[in-house]
Amino acid sequence: MTSAQDHQPLTGEPHEVSRIGVVLVAAGRGERLGAGKPKAFVELGGRTLVEHCLRTVTSLPSGGHLVIVVPEHLAGETLRLVAAAEPTGANWEVSVTPGGRERHESVKFGVDALPEYADVVLVHDAARPLTPAALFARVAAEVRRTTDAVIPALPVVDTLKRVGADSIVHETVDRAPLVAVQTPQGFPRELLAAAHDRLGTGAHDDAADHPTDDAEVVQRAGGTVRTVPGESLAHKLTTPGDLALLEALLAAQNGDAR
Ligand code: C5P
Repeated sequence: MTSAQDHQPLTGEPHEVSRIGVVLVAAGRGERLGAGKPKAFVELGGRTLVEHCLRTVTSLPSGGHLVIVVPEHLAGETLRLVAAAEPTGANWEVSVTPGGRERHESVKFGVDALPEYADVVLVHDAARPLTPAALFARVAAEVRRTTDAVIPALPVVDTLKRVGADSIVHETVDRAPLVAVQTPQGFPRELLAAAHDRLGTGAHDDAADHPTDDAEVVQRAGGTVRTVPGESLAHKLTTPGDLALLEALLAAQNGDAR
């Protein structure tokens, strides 16, 4: 594993080898969590969320390049975390790059930082630290098989209601065609890069105009987005309650491993 902001592919002939690129977005402020530091640097079971994701991605046998997108002032600390991570034996390069004001900008900066040989790109939220390696592999395999965008999805289990600003329920929404989507989301690199170029950088003031995931960016550009089954372990850390849930999931996982 290498760690550098300037990186070189480990293979002499980058075009002969098809390896994945992973963009780990970790540059959010995470204000809803109220941890006093960016969410991706909060600890879960003694490791930051970034370290959990780093270990999972670099355990993938495909090898490739992982770019970790972080707040600029935490780039040095992230490089130290990468250098201290246990070698996994897989053929992974890791680099660190500064993020943007909005998530879609951070993704664009991450994709731009990937080496040319990465023809399939997986974008993952550092806020989903327990996402199993199998989900990364499942998404990447489906992108290769279909050459479309691929996202993990879970059925919605709760009853859904449309509620007005006055807290009054207007209607029950049919949940049958609805799914909750997760990351990693996978794309042919060209499709993702072209869609982000079309969107451009900068703030999107209108909330409705604000893409909350990359699949939406690609869909707006006319791309097809498919789903594969998601994983409950890919749960996203947003509020303090999620932290307690993730701690419990991690403890159960560690118990299973013993
Ligand atoms: O804020 P939210 O939980 O939706 O962010 C999802 C992911 O996107 C997080 O891992 C966060 O660090 C990342 N992000 C980013 N750059 C931003 C905003 C969010 O990398 N400007």
